[in-house]
Amino acid sequence: MNTITIRPAASVKGEITVPGDKSISHRSIMLGAIANGTTSVRGFLRGGDNMATMGAFRAMGVRIDDDGETVVIQGKGLHGLSEPSDVIDCGNSGTTIRLITGLLAGQSFFSVVTGDQYLRKRPMKRVVEPLTRMGARILGRNQGSLAPLAISGGSLNAIGYESPVSSAQVKSAIMLAGLYADGDTSVREPSLSRDHSERMFRLFGATLETFDSGVTVKGGVELQGQDITVPGDISSATFFMVAALITPGSELLIRNVGVNPTRTGAIDILRAMGGDIQLLDQRELSGEPVADILVRSSRLKGCAIAGSVVPRAIDEFPAICVAAACAEGVTTVREARELRVKETDRISAMATNLRTLGVPVEECDDGMTINGVERLSGGSVESFGDHRIAMSLAVAALVSTDGITIADTGCVATSFPTFFPLLEKVSRG
Ligand code: S3P
Repeated sequence: MNTITIRPAASVKGEITVPGDKSISHRSIMLGAIANGTTSVRGFLRGGDNMATMGAFRAMGVRIDDDGETVVIQGKGLHGLSEPSDVIDCGNSGTTIRLITGLLAGQSFFSVVTGDQYLRKRPMKRVVEPLTRMGARILGRNQGSLAPLAISGGSLNAIGYESPVSSAQVKSAIMLAGLYADGDTSVREPSLSRDHSERMFRLFGATLETFDSGVTVKGGVELQGQDITVPGDISSATFFMVAALITPGSELLIRNVGVNPTRTGAIDILRAMGGDIQLLDQRELSGEPVADILVRSSRLKGCAIAGSVVPRAIDEFPAICVAAACAEGVTTVREARELRVKETDRISAMATNLRTLGVPVEECDDGMTINGVERLSGGSVESFGDHRIAMSLAVAALVSTDGITIADTGCVATSFPTFFPLLEKVSRG
């Protein structure tokens, strides 16, 4: 088990790029695999989660080459995947297991998907239920709510689905199954989650319509391989944004970051707290908005977080909690129950760790209340096997009195293998 100690820093300075977007990288492999022709992907994230997706499609007979620069996928067409001869291991990746389950629901072969000890505790009913309604047969532990899942797919019926949760994984699983359904499949969610699937489906030539917080996909339409460039992951950039905001005397330029409006909730929240964050040179790359982000240290104030910004910042809450701990006054997070079913229960994990650092935190069912402190203490904290908990605590350490020792940091490799060296590079002692 890797344990790392991060020392306090005087400032965070420089110019960096962060690795490719995790969500877009997953989708590029999935759509590339079922498209006709070749798909090439530059800027692909080679983290544990995306390598699990790559392995899954190789196991279904898809040729995928990676020269370290570009990932090239030889598409098999909508009906060209072959039955995997073994269980598909999705590792720690919720996106891999849920999206692939949607895709497998449309295949006329048998498959089993599973994952690591954390993934096997995460709720799968949210995809199993709608996919079963479409006609797939899916069995799993605990009445089909936990992996491993055994999937027997085939011809599917189109459905109109009202998702009880705002979840891009649920929406995308149904969209992928919808490609195999007879007619138009619609998904509506309470408030719009990340729309990378909608954008990439369009790029690959799928027929779809979007409306306020929903999408309709036409079944049976063949996809065409594309050349894709993946922007930097705003979820990874957020750790560095918070590092620069909370560390006095900092100025950091993060180049080439995806700023899709369904993902920029953290920027909105941090700005509402008083953060000096500027988006420069806004442009578009493979159908996704991109910008350079300039961040300067700022005196932050607590704020109230709830509503439609929550799904737009869903992966950024561990980092936002650290900003709140360093802000003047109180920050409340509500309507964020989904945080309890991420890689770990992120409400409980952040509350426990922040208390260790001397921050008063109260938990409630769907969120937490954080009282900012003058200075974080230091101490020993743990990641609970969750990459984003580990990285947010490393950022907290920069403004701690004694430094912070984080247990179990191997998980960082699932989304950001170069995080610790990059943090060291920009933080001045
Ligand atoms: C993701 C969707 C989100 C997010 C996850 C990636 C995706 O999960 O937390 O890291 O790529 O679709 P939910 O759909 O469970 O909100």
